[in-house]
Amino acid sequence: MDTSLKNKKVLITAGPTREYIDPVRFISNESSGKMGYAIAEALHQMGADVILVSGPVFITSTFPKDRIKNVLTGKEMYLECKKYFDSIDIAVFCAAVADYAPKVTSNIKIKKIESETILELQKNIDIAFEFGIVKKIKQKSIGFALETNNIHENAINKLEKKNFDLVVLNSPNKNEGFGYNTNKITIIDADLSVHVFPIKEKKEVALDIINFIEKTYQEALPE
Ligand code: C5P
Repeated sequence: MDTSLKNKKVLITAGPTREYIDPVRFISNESSGKMGYAIAEALHQMGADVILVSGPVFITSTFPKDRIKNVLTGKEMYLECKKYFDSIDIAVFCAAVADYAPKVTSNIKIKKIESETILELQKNIDIAFEFGIVKKIKQKSIGFALETNNIHENAINKLEKKNFDLVVLNSPNKNEGFGYNTNKITIIDADLSVHVFPIKEKKEVALDIINFIEKTYQEALPE
């Protein structure tokens, strides 16, 4: 397939992160990683040079294993991305990084006590935000959002705050997004134009997203 994304360097984050309370307990979320892996596979097949930084997922994928960098925590995901960000053309921030992490991670299993306990949390590093600060003009970044209210306003805030060039809005509806094989997306671009797509299999959604990236940035991307 002839595409302007051939040989372009793409960094993708995917899956959930785990924020450890102790060696056997953690905070995480329902993200399956399917969307990120589908985008990675499709881009790889098109000849893009893809690095996939992945949280813990259970996916059978045709994406080459040596291009997957496995991490557990949000901090590890950030540090792994940092190794590549400078040299990439496009970043796709698909991971559902846990918003909060325990203030302290115990090295040993915490003993159960017979009363209530309080777990102190701190804000986790916002990977997309950090790279949004250092992003160069020629680098393009795509973010994802899952909103249940003030959907467009929140997505636009995200686009601006995290310096995304595109935001892909996922549907919060049952069977349409998070954890499922299908997704119903809306893409908002830097001009704040809104593009609504019908519900599709994630592999097809990945192609819609990639086509959109390609169409929008064909001229902006370096040769
Ligand atoms: O703020 P919110 O979590 O809704 O933003 C979602 C977008 O930001 C996604 O693209 C996600 O991958 C990215 N993100 C991130 N690091 C975080 C939180 C979100 O990269 N700590």
